[in-house]
Amino acid sequence: MEKQTMYTTKKSTLLDVDQIVQIHHDTFENFFLTSLGADFLKFYYYSLIKNHETVCFVAVDNDKIVGFSVATVMSKGFNTRLIRSNLYSFGLWSFKMLFSNPKALIRLVRNLTKKSDVIEDDENYAELFSIAVKSNQQKKGIGKILLKETEKELKIKGVENLSLTTDYYDNDATIAFYKSMGYNILYDFITYPQRRMYRFIKHL
Ligand SMILES: CC(C)(COP(=O)(O)OP(=O)(O)OC[C@H]1O[C@@H](n2cnc3c(N)ncnc32)[C@H](O)[C@@H]1OP(=O)(O)O)[C@@H](O)C(=O)NCCC(=O)NCCS
Repeated sequence: MEKQTMYTTKKSTLLDVDQIVQIHHDTFENFFLTSLGADFLKFYYYSLIKNHETVCFVAVDNDKIVGFSVATVMSKGFNTRLIRSNLYSFGLWSFKMLFSNPKALIRLVRNLTKKSDVIEDDENYAELFSIAVKSNQQKKGIGKILLKETEKELKIKGVENLSLTTDYYDNDATIAFYKSMGYNILYDFITYPQRRMYRFIKHL
């Protein structure tokens, strides 16, 4: 008999971090954050999930996590507040990186805010930091459910606009996904060191 597939979503807890990191690792293969290693990713998602400004969901199929999303209610200044509230741990990571991978530390600091230098952007919107669905479960509507759930929760919290950044080049499927969900291009810009990105936005 064929296995019944039934996806549900729930708010993430710290117990979900290992599975979230595994999915991040598999789906964001060539991303800068992934290159910092599993321990850094665990610390990063742990900090995000326990933060009171974030909205984090997982999609579950038969007790296994098949996708996740992470957003914050207010983009402006969020990373600074995140670092402040985990100052000791971020300090330790920075110290380690200073000796093991100083270039990565520079890149991390330079990308604390991701916005255009040319177009005025007050960052007065919620921001989706991460959304991913396990490779073998993509195109089944799970990303759509996660994003809708995130939008619904943000709206309850009084958010009017949700924004996100995504790669400009070689990224047709993800761009099609965001457009299908009602997101429009706000502008494109270059992040450090030389990566062209889109900033999308949707009025909720
Ligand atoms: C982007 C991602 C989260 C989408 O999740 P998903 O579960 O595969 O997407 P869904 O099945 O919910 O698709 C919803 C809609 O998006 C569009 N879409 C999704 N994948 C698409 C593709 N490959 N090509 C064109 N349109 C696509 C479709 O309109 C689809 O609606 P439809 O099936 O009714 O036509 C997922 O593909 C993923 O994890 N990608 C890798 C990680 C990543 O790049 N994340 C985004 C970082 S910015």
